[in-house]
Amino acid sequence: MCGIVGVLGNHEAAPLLVEALKRLEYRGYDSAGIATVDAGRLDRRRAVGKLVELSDLLVHDPLSGKSGIGHTRWATHGGPTLVNAHPHRAGPVAVVHNGIIENFRELRAEMREKGYETVTQTDTETVALVTQDLMAQGLQPDEAAIAALARLKGAFALAFLFEGEDDLIVAARQGSPLAIGWGDGEMFLGSDAIALAPLTDRITYLEEGDVAVLNRGGAEIRDRNGNRVNRPVRRVLIDASRIEKGGHRHFMAKEIAEQPAVLREALDHYLQDDGIAMPQIDFTDVDRVVLVACGTAFYACQTARYWFEELARLPAECDIASEFRYREPPLSERTLAVFVSQSGETADTLAALRYCRDKARIVSVVNVAESSIARESDLALPILAGAEIGVASTKAFTCQLAVLMLMALKAAKDRGRIGDDALAGHLNDVRTLPGLVSHALTVEPAIEDAARALSQAQDVLFLGRGTMYPLAMEGALKLKEISYIHAEGYASGELKHGPIALIDGSVPVIVMAPRDRLFDKTVSNMQEVMAREGQVILITDAAGAEAAGEGTREVLQMPPVPPLLAPIVYAIAAQLLAYHTAIAKGTDVDQPRNLAKSVTVE
Ligand code: G6P
Repeated sequence: MCGIVGVLGNHEAAPLLVEALKRLEYRGYDSAGIATVDAGRLDRRRAVGKLVELSDLLVHDPLSGKSGIGHTRWATHGGPTLVNAHPHRAGPVAVVHNGIIENFRELRAEMREKGYETVTQTDTETVALVTQDLMAQGLQPDEAAIAALARLKGAFALAFLFEGEDDLIVAARQGSPLAIGWGDGEMFLGSDAIALAPLTDRITYLEEGDVAVLNRGGAEIRDRNGNRVNRPVRRVLIDASRIEKGGHRHFMAKEIAEQPAVLREALDHYLQDDGIAMPQIDFTDVDRVVLVACGTAFYACQTARYWFEELARLPAECDIASEFRYREPPLSERTLAVFVSQSGETADTLAALRYCRDKARIVSVVNVAESSIARESDLALPILAGAEIGVASTKAFTCQLAVLMLMALKAAKDRGRIGDDALAGHLNDVRTLPGLVSHALTVEPAIEDAARALSQAQDVLFLGRGTMYPLAMEGALKLKEISYIHAEGYASGELKHGPIALIDGSVPVIVMAPRDRLFDKTVSNMQEVMAREGQVILITDAAGAEAAGEGTREVLQMPPVPPLLAPIVYAIAAQLLAYHTAIAKGTDVDQPRNLAKSVTVE
């Protein structure tokens, strides 16, 4: 949450900072700001709302200088107001910050006692004040920043810029990611490498506890113990087309449409002629799988639980990362702890992973290969979805499912639950997945019609059984996230234990039910809804449509699919339904209110 950037360049910094922030807007968009130093003079511009507001401000009130820092905010402490927008300035220092300073109250009290005035409700302001105070005591700017950092508790990434210093940025990473970019006689800084893609492809990822002092000649990095360290410079190639809309109206639309291609890429990576290429995991000595994640990734985990248990007869449990980490669950060396995360930076998932260190074997299923979660795992399995920019996760979800499904099949094979022939049969099915997903995408016009009606609803229920149950919850989450319609996902069988009380003629009920062994049970629950005038939109296949009988408001027809693949194929319908409902409502699809894509605070 929050994106930070820095530039020590040979050209005007403001346009570069704004361009880099544009690529970080997925991390938050409550307000944005930049600060520059020009011939020693430190100045800043800030604007409430999306980055475009800052760009407009800079047209009328430009900011010169070739050195600068920038920030796009997802508010934690203090509302999204101008006064709370970063960079925060105290005398000769400006600071941008991602994360939370946990001891800011003590520091603020101390600074007030010393006579410093505080004007914001943020935790960040105290960092600037402490640095200012240390400079007033005679410390050089870089020394003051480093000494201030030593006083901070919490998880953060920070960048400091100083009055009188045209060639200095101090940057620190403690819990939130930060990358340094190397140019020719220029240096850059960003919360991720995507931000720096147009500026350089030579990237150094700071490690936990690192502090970097940057000037145009390079970076001097010290580790948490103050020792000078060399961190590797890697070439990180980011295909620009992957971070543009490519003719689509929204990133979300593009990312939904990309799914056949990215799923093919993920499958090609893991599928061999005779098996699944995950040689680093041996399930013969695993007696339990624990799957941990947040948000959409959590629903991918819940789906995978069905697969691990059903296919591999391997006990599997799932937990939301923020609960798991405080529940202190017992683990053993025969436990495989699986962390699923698109960004690989979600604070709670990372903390849950750290809880498991030295207690269990740690595998992560991640999209961002260089992320903290990937780097701190014993094994990181990439989902290869490519950059996902839309805040509501789509292609990452289906790629997570694909990788987890292959893991479960590998577990089944390793544990002798399925033989070579059965595995080959499943893998033949799996190879048809990109085609089935393409087919599912062709239902878009019908979904668009259904979504128009859905956009009038106040509340929507999603129902499913088996692997359609987590998908029902994911469908409800997607709808909530981008259309702001209240939605709940329920297990069909649970309907009569409460949610049926909500049903009347105004409540659309989305029933996700391929014609599988659970279909008849789900249809009975659907009948219970229709008997109470609930407006059923049934998502099923041709056989299901025929068997369901009359009384539904709408049937959205998916291709017939092997049961194993159903959650991935039916996810397309859930995503399109949410997308077109949001379009019909006119909400901000790619940047829904109050949300951020990368949640780096607890
Ligand atoms: C945020 C995003 C969701 C995402 C969740 C977990 O809430 O808006 O789309 O599912 O974080 O993120 P992760 O990067 O760990 O998958």
